[in-house]
Amino acid sequence: MSKSFDVVVIGGGPGGYIAAIRAAQLGFNTACIDEWKNEKGGPAPGGTCTNVGCIPSKALLQSSEHFEHAGHAFADHGIGLKDLSIDIGKMLGRKNAVVKQNNDGILYLFKKNKVSFFHGRGSFVKAAEGAASTGSGQGYEIKVAGAAEETVIAKHVIVATGSNPRALPGAPFDEELILSNDGALRIPAVPKKLGLIGAGVIGLEMGSVWRRLGAEVVVLEALPTFLGAVDEQIAKEAQKAFNKQGLKVELGVKISEVKTGKKGVTVAYANAKGEAQTLEVDKLIVSIGRVANTIGLNPEAVGLKLDERGAVVVDDDCKTNLPNVWAIGDVVRGPMLAHKAEEEGVAVAERIAGQHGHVNFNTIPWVIYTSPEIAWVGQTEQQLKAAGRAYKAGTFPFLANGRARALGDTTGMVKFLADAKTDEILGVHIVGPMASELISEAVVAMEFKASAEDIARICHAHPSLSEATKEAALAIDKRTLNF
Ligand code: FAD
Ligand code: NAI
Repeated sequence: MSKSFDVVVIGGGPGGYIAAIRAAQLGFNTACIDEWKNEKGGPAPGGTCTNVGCIPSKALLQSSEHFEHAGHAFADHGIGLKDLSIDIGKMLGRKNAVVKQNNDGILYLFKKNKVSFFHGRGSFVKAAEGAASTGSGQGYEIKVAGAAEETVIAKHVIVATGSNPRALPGAPFDEELILSNDGALRIPAVPKKLGLIGAGVIGLEMGSVWRRLGAEVVVLEALPTFLGAVDEQIAKEAQKAFNKQGLKVELGVKISEVKTGKKGVTVAYANAKGEAQTLEVDKLIVSIGRVANTIGLNPEAVGLKLDERGAVVVDDDCKTNLPNVWAIGDVVRGPMLAHKAEEEGVAVAERIAGQHGHVNFNTIPWVIYTSPEIAWVGQTEQQLKAAGRAYKAGTFPFLANGRARALGDTTGMVKFLADAKTDEILGVHIVGPMASELISEAVVAMEFKASAEDIARICHAHPSLSEATKEAALAIDKRTLNF
C-alpha cells in the first residue's frame, strides 16, 4: 500500500528540509525524500550546502584562518609559537564532524516536527487520478528508490533537487586532479601549486583556504573585471587585499585545453592580450558556476516544464506549470544561495496553506567568506548609475574604527547608497572583518525601507565593528564623527 501525504518534498537541502519543516508546522502530513549518502551509505540530509558547500567550506575557511593568524598575526599580539604545523587529516576530520553534526541535526528536526523521511531517489511516476487536471485531487505518484523501493502519493509536491557543478567542456571532474567543490573540500595534502578556473565565490573561498595552508594559488577568470557583480569600489578594495596576500588572479583569459598527466594538470589558455600561455598545477579546481539538477526526477512522466538550461520553470510564487507542483532553490531561477532556497521553501509551504508567503529578492544578502569578507545587499553604485537613479554615497573605513584596530584587522570599509531625495537605503556594501554578520543590520533596515538617517540615529555599541555601519550612514550627509 502506498503512503499518502499532503506534501512531499523531493530533495533535503536547505530549500527542501526547511520547506518540509514549515509544511509540518502548518499541520500538513509531510514527507521529505533525499538521496544523499554519507560514507557508510546512510542518510546525509542537508544537500550541497551541508555536505559539500556552505558548511564544510566555512569549516575549512575557519581552520585555515586560524593557521594563517597563528603564523602571521599572533606575533603582533606578543604570542610566540615555535614549530607551527598543520595536520590536514585532522583538519578534514573536524570538517567532516561538523558536517555530520548538521546531517544529524536535520534528522532530529524531522523527528521533532513529525516529517516522514525517505532515504532514496524520488522520481515522478504519474499524476494520480484526477489531480493534474483539477488541481484539487489526490496528487502525484512518486517512486522512492532507496534501500527498499516504495511508492508515495502526494497531494502537493515541492521539487528541491538543487544543482550540480558545471564542468569545463572536455575536462570532466575526476576529483583527483580536476576537482569540483566536492574534491576541493577534501584534498588530502596541501598541493604545491593549485589552479582554479573561475574567480567567483567558490574560486575565491577555496583559493583562500589552500593559499593560507601554503599552496601557490593561481586563479584564471574569463571576465575582464574582478567580481563584476560586486560594487566596483568594494571589488577593487578586495582585489588589493587578495593581491597583497599572494592570491594570483588573472582576468580576461580564454581556456583552450585542460590535460591531465602523471605530474598534474596542464591548462592551455590565452591571456587578456590573446597570447598563448600554459599553466602547470598539481591540482585544478573548476568553479565556473552550477547547473540546475533534475537527474533522476523523471519530470517527463508528468510533463513538468524545464527551461533550455534544465531549470524547472516557475512563476514568482514558485508555481510550476503543473497544479500542486512547486519548485524552489537552486533548481529554479534566481541566485544559488542557501538562504534564498530556505526563504522560498517557507513561502511555498505557507502558500500551500493559503497564506501569503513572501520572498523579497531585493533584500537577499550575499556574502563571500574570504578575508576580508565581502557582503552586500541591494543595488551597487554601477547599477544605480546605469539606471540613472539619483543617489548619495557614504563610506567609512575600518581603519578609523576602534574595534577593528583592537582586532588588528582594519582592511576595508562600509559603503551606503541612498536615494538622493528620500534618503531611502538602496544598497549597503561591506568589505572587511565580520562583514557576514554586519550585513544583517542593513538587510533589516532595507526590509523596513529605512533611510540612511535612521541608521545614523540608532545607538550602536562601542567599541564594535557595527559603529562603522552607523558612520557610513552618517557619511551619506558628510557628517562622520570619527573620520
Ligand atoms: P541542494 O542543497 O543542492 O540540495 C538538493 C538535495 O536534493 C540534495 O541532497 C540531493 O541529493 C537531493 N536530490 C536531488 N535529486 C533528488 C531526487 N530525485 N530524489 C531525492 N533527492 C534528490 N550558499 C550560501 O548561501 N552560503 C554559502 O556560504 C554557500 N557556500 C557554498 C559553498 C560551495 C562550495 C558550494 C558548492 C555552494 C555554496 N552555497 C552557499 C550554495 C548553496 O549550497 C546552495 O545554494 C544550496 O545548497 C541550494 O539548496 P537547495 O536545497 O536548492 O539544493
Ligand atoms: P560563480 O558564478 O560565483 O563564479 C563563476 C566564475 O567563473 C565567474 O566569475 C565566471 O565569469 C567564471 N567563468 C565561467 N566560465 C569560465 C571559463 N570557461 N573560464 C574561466 N572562467 C569562467 O560560480 P561558482 O564560484 O562556481 O559558485 C557557484 C555558486 O555557488 C555561486 O554562484 C553561489 O551562488 C554559490 N556559492 C555561494 C557561496 C556563498 O554564498 N558564500 C560560496 C560558494 C558558492
